[in-house]
Amino acid sequence: MHWKMTFRILFTATAIAGVVVSTRTSSGVEPAETSGVALRTAEGAAPTRGVALQSSGRHFVGVGGCAAANCHGGDGTKGTVGSEYSIWIQDDKHAEAYSVLYNETSQRMAKLMKLDKPAHQAALCLNCHAPQNDPPFAGKNVHGSLSALLDGVSCEACHGAASDWLGPHVRHDWAKQSPEEKAALGYRETKNLWDRSKVCADCHVGEPGRDVNHDLYAAGHPRLFFEMSAFHANMPAHWDRNDDRGRAGPDRDKSSFEAKLWAIGQLASAEAALDLLVHRAENTRDDFVLQDKNAKYPSGETVAVWPEFSETGCFACHHNLDSPSWRQKRGYTSRNAGGYPWGTWLFPILPTVVKSSGTSDLASSDSPLSKLIREMSRPYPNRKAVVSNARDLQSILTKSAANIDAQRLSADQITGWLKGVSVTGNSASQQSWDGATQSWLSLTAIHQGLTDVSGSTGQPSEKSQQINKSLEQIRTHLEFPKGFDSPETFSSDPATAISAELKKIHDILE
Ligand code: HEC
Ligand code: HEC
Ligand code: HEC
Ligand code: HEC
Repeated sequence: MHWKMTFRILFTATAIAGVVVSTRTSSGVEPAETSGVALRTAEGAAPTRGVALQSSGRHFVGVGGCAAANCHGGDGTKGTVGSEYSIWIQDDKHAEAYSVLYNETSQRMAKLMKLDKPAHQAALCLNCHAPQNDPPFAGKNVHGSLSALLDGVSCEACHGAASDWLGPHVRHDWAKQSPEEKAALGYRETKNLWDRSKVCADCHVGEPGRDVNHDLYAAGHPRLFFEMSAFHANMPAHWDRNDDRGRAGPDRDKSSFEAKLWAIGQLASAEAALDLLVHRAENTRDDFVLQDKNAKYPSGETVAVWPEFSETGCFACHHNLDSPSWRQKRGYTSRNAGGYPWGTWLFPILPTVVKSSGTSDLASSDSPLSKLIREMSRPYPNRKAVVSNARDLQSILTKSAANIDAQRLSADQITGWLKGVSVTGNSASQQSWDGATQSWLSLTAIHQGLTDVSGSTGQPSEKSQQINKSLEQIRTHLEFPKGFDSPETFSSDPATAISAELKKIHDILE
């Protein structure tokens, strides 16, 4: 049963990924040798400001160490176990992550940003597209050989730099070691859903030292639209998805997996975004302006800009002006007219998730989230206030995730989540395309979670079919028009139509 179910969410999720992810350009590697750009280890003075470096000294041993047929390079005839390498190299986009740095978009980005190196040599890009150390920015220079870089986002980018654990992990007692013992060798745990989501968020949300900020967006980087359920479903699994479901929570209840992955993914992604926010508040460089026409953007670091536009709803600034305006009619909730809508992608559904964990009421006007939204709507937010509220919010999110992970979820509980998101989603959809899309992704994931917990196997129930129909309708209102990398005009028409479908979903569940 679970295989089929998983496949369906994969299909649905793939559909959204097709919508929100910009069109791909061809990404063939031009071998560095023949194009004359020999890959050198970067030298020269590292810029002094920016990320606080922790130098663990752990380095990647490279995929070559994993690919042997009797290790992880099997042919898949015995299932996924032992064939991790083959699945990754054949089907996983992560294996191409370095090659894309040679494509037209990347080359144009490097030019527009005035990088002092081409994209495929810039630590700024390589930290996410072909990391070689853990942490990746331990040293701003690129240490990898071409063949190491060609691995792109390889095994160790997710499982941790193996220089200290490669040997131990093939010994018989490895399985008996505690997560703490493994972590001490640099091994990153991915079984636990919070840690797993944090691994993905490192690159798909960003972390201090790995950052797709508005400088990169304005130069052409595709927007990072991360949502754990959808991305997890879209990544070709080199593990047994059925076994994996049994690892959710302490009592190994397979049925709760999808619902938990969604909830914990929401909490972990927001927690990661808050880390970046704090980093920006504490490390901003007021002096950073490329004034001189010969000035270069440092390719070895990310620049912490304050306030950072990429944290604000993109389509709040990037839209056409019309009259009478939908936004003026709609109103600005707690913001002043013209205030910045902060956190529209990762935060709109969060109050519902946190409420369901029983830890806190983020919707109340004096919650750290409400305070952050108000502060960040100002043109020059107070950095101290932002840091303290962000820290408070982070501890609420961590606690909420632990609470949810420890529960065995019932069908009633998950139905409550669906209802909750259909209500929160309604107001979020009135505010922005981001809010509407997060609501849709959330409902899709939780609905799958409900199907699992209800244990239904054959035909989906009547209710379930109706919900799917509404979700499909919502999806059509979210799609970008041809030729656009934005919703072009997300205004009262799609917002009203989406609200109507969300209300239908709510009524079906009553
Ligand atoms: C914080 C991590 C991060 C940094 C830094 C980063 N990227 Fe990316 N990049 C990503 C992720 C994640 C994706 C995939 C986005 C998705 O599909 O949701 C991506 C996608 C891309 C794509 C589209 C790939 C495709 O298949 O079409 C290009 C091109 C790209 N990045 C170039 C660059 C360049 C050039 C730089 C440096 C100037 C850079 N990136 C820096 C994380 C990063
Ligand atoms: C983008 C992140 C990512 C990359 C890259 C990656 N993995 Fe994984 N890997 C995961 C996740 C997520 C799981 C599932 C959770 C778990 O079992 O720990 C996993 C599971 C595994 C497992 C455990 C399977 C099981 O059933 O217990 C092995 C072994 C593994 N990966 C090896 C590899 C190898 C070898 C490579 C490189 C060829 C690789 N991984 C690349 C994320 C990644
Ligand atoms: C080291 C950085 C890094 C980590 C960690 C990472 N990713 Fe990625 N991911 C990327 C980059 C870069 C790309 C774009 C690759 C390309 O387009 O060639 C990408 C692409 C993807 C895609 C394909 C998106 C598309 O456009 O179709 C999926 C799905 C994905 N990642 C899921 C995950 C999941 C799930 C995890 C955690 C288990 C994860 N990633 C961890 C960097 C990372
Ligand atoms: C506070 C306002 C604001 C926000 C929020 C904002 N931008 Fe921008 N963006 C700008 C300005 C100003 C420019 C420069 C436009 C110009 O040069 O004409 C720009 C330029 C761009 C460009 C290049 C020019 C173009 O129109 O194609 C892209 C692409 C872009 N932004 C994407 C994004 C994305 C993606 C987000 C959200 C993650 C975002 N922006 C959020 C104000 C904003």
